[in-house]
Amino acid sequence: MEKDHKSTWIIGASSGIGAALAIELAKTQSSLCLSARSVAGLEEVKMQLESDLPVLILPCDVSQYQELQQVWQTLNTHWSKVDRIIFMAGVYSPSQLTNVSKEMIDESIDINLKSAFYLVNVILPDFLKQKTGKKPQLIFCASVAGYRGLPMAQPYAATKAGLINLVETLRTEVGHHIDVKLINPGFVETRLTAKNNFYMPAKISTEQAAQAIFNALESKKFEIHFPKRFTYIMKIIRWLPDTWYFRWFSKKYQTGASANEK
Ligand SMILES: NC(=O)c1ccc[n+]([C@@H]2O[C@H](COP(=O)([O-])OP(=O)(O)OC[C@H]3O[C@@H](n4cnc5c(N)ncnc54)[C@H](OP(=O)(O)O)[C@@H]3O)[C@@H](O)[C@H]2O)c1
Repeated sequence: MEKDHKSTWIIGASSGIGAALAIELAKTQSSLCLSARSVAGLEEVKMQLESDLPVLILPCDVSQYQELQQVWQTLNTHWSKVDRIIFMAGVYSPSQLTNVSKEMIDESIDINLKSAFYLVNVILPDFLKQKTGKKPQLIFCASVAGYRGLPMAQPYAATKAGLINLVETLRTEVGHHIDVKLINPGFVETRLTAKNNFYMPAKISTEQAAQAIFNALESKKFEIHFPKRFTYIMKIIRWLPDTWYFRWFSKKYQTGASANEK
């Protein structure tokens, strides 16, 4: 019992990978708390859980600092100890810098990046005080899109790059007290990728994504990335010299002046 983490708070559990992960974790009889903005979405996920334990539904917009504080307080009145927090919340819309809207810039930065800072700020003092049992876990979902500046992916890619950077810093600063992990998925079939009208190599289902995360939760790994046949290619691309990288992607995706002239 001591070995496993038992109480898990998933933020961004109303759909997609977070929902599939809740379903997977429920099978192990973990205590679950599910958060997202959509109450209906959370209730629907709750109905699919095979768990004998009570499941907490605490709706919350993570980009609102006070809401997050409130939910954290409420959660701590229900549970004596929170073993694991998994931050899956994220928004995405494919766009080029030539047509990205102000609303998308604000929403992406607020939800994908600022909220992660908020969460760290809200929970860290309590997490650092936990002295019993295994290290508590703090796990954030970024994306391989954050490895390097990608075409058709802003402001999403920049927020995920920032999130990767934040989580790395967190690991260096509190890693001896907290098991900090980073999830970097490739393409997963969800409502987010349904917006893409381009070919998505090695796309996997939410169930496969949840299984990959679940399998690595108790490992010593910092980064959980999948599917490997795609993420290793992204890692190689990450280390390509600038001239090669820009030549390849500029040729493939250059728009701007030349596209407008057509
Ligand atoms: N799908 C992929 O190919 C892929 C690849 C790499 C990384 N990711 C990342 O994986 C994570 C999950 O994405 P997904 O693909 O499963 O998409 P999804 O189905 O849209 O899931 C996103 C979740 O985040 C929640 N959320 C969004 N804004 C929120 C807010 N302000 N407060 C609280 N919860 C919020 C959503 O719930 P509500 O709307 O109800 O709030 C939903 O539960 C995201 O961080 C995404 O960037 C996905």
